[in-house]
Amino acid sequence: MRMLITEGLNMIYKKDGKIALKDVNINIEKGEFAALLGQNGAGKTTLINILSGNVKKTSGKIYIGGYDLDKNELETKKLLGVVPQESGFDNFFSVEEVLKKQSGYFGIKRNKEYIHHLLNQLNLFEKRNNYIRELSGGMKRRFQMAKALVHKPEIFILDEPTAGVDIEMRHNMYDFLLELHKSGLTIILTTHYIEEAERLCDRIMVINSGEIVADEPKEILMDRFGREVRVSICFDGPVDAQEWESLKKFHAEVTHHNQIDFKVDKAKLPVLLNAIALKRGDFVDISIEREKLEDVYLQLIKSRKE
Ligand SMILES: Nc1ncnc2c1ncn2[C@@H]1O[C@H](COP(=O)(O)OP(=O)(O)OP(=O)(O)O)[C@@H](O)[C@H]1O
Ligand SMILES: [Mg+2]
Repeated sequence: MRMLITEGLNMIYKKDGKIALKDVNINIEKGEFAALLGQNGAGKTTLINILSGNVKKTSGKIYIGGYDLDKNELETKKLLGVVPQESGFDNFFSVEEVLKKQSGYFGIKRNKEYIHHLLNQLNLFEKRNNYIRELSGGMKRRFQMAKALVHKPEIFILDEPTAGVDIEMRHNMYDFLLELHKSGLTIILTTHYIEEAERLCDRIMVINSGEIVADEPKEILMDRFGREVRVSICFDGPVDAQEWESLKKFHAEVTHHNQIDFKVDKAKLPVLLNAIALKRGDFVDISIEREKLEDVYLQLIKSRKE
């Protein structure tokens, strides 16, 4: 089932004529966990703000859970839970009060147990009676997640949820998100931590200057662009760059006194390994690493600039 569709979505900010989104067509299936990657100013937050009804698009169509956003704003709001990049906080209410209030907007009553469950999962239960202004930055991010989930939406959209969150808490959040995903929730996440997308998401969308420049299952994207592997070999003694002149075409680079790295197309790996073994047999360690999503992402962004 298609959970989220945009058709020919365009956004031009009137104030300065800035084209923030250009013919954006995306199509997210139920249960997908998608990452939306892009540089500062690429248009991620603009897209999310349009989906959540906070910003009015210039043109195009949006369907959420089959509902046309222009005609059924209420229905689409119920289906979405959005953690915004920035938000004015309900500073003079306690955590639990805000969550109750938020439930009320959606006509949900007597859900204290669920609220407590969410707060427990997000390590905020102890803070339930504190004012929002008494929370730390990372706690506020987690509180925003609870607020976005309190009405049990079907699509969870998070705009840089882990920015400014410490490593341990970030990992807790990953577990939490993976649990939600397992339970069937459709999730869209923007992040500048590429390894986060690589670890969590099964689909990668890249937006560049308002245009979607890649939108594919992670594995396919990695196969298409991440064709190279990095081979690092450590020898029993020092490595002399000159000695490896003949393998220059494999991007040979001496990276430590006894280590040399190569970059090679996966298909050429046997040829390279043979050539190395013929040259020197005293290797003590070898590692072969496929390219990371980060390398693929940088290639994509770079190729757009050329
Ligand atoms: N209210 C606004 N009025 C005019 N221009 C805006 C407005 N909001 C955003 N923009 C512009 O639209 C473009 C996209 O901004 P957006 O906030 O969507 O980027 P982003 O991908 O979320 O970036 P970041 O990673 O920094 O959060 C930028 O050039 C930005 O300056
Ligand atoms: Mg943003």
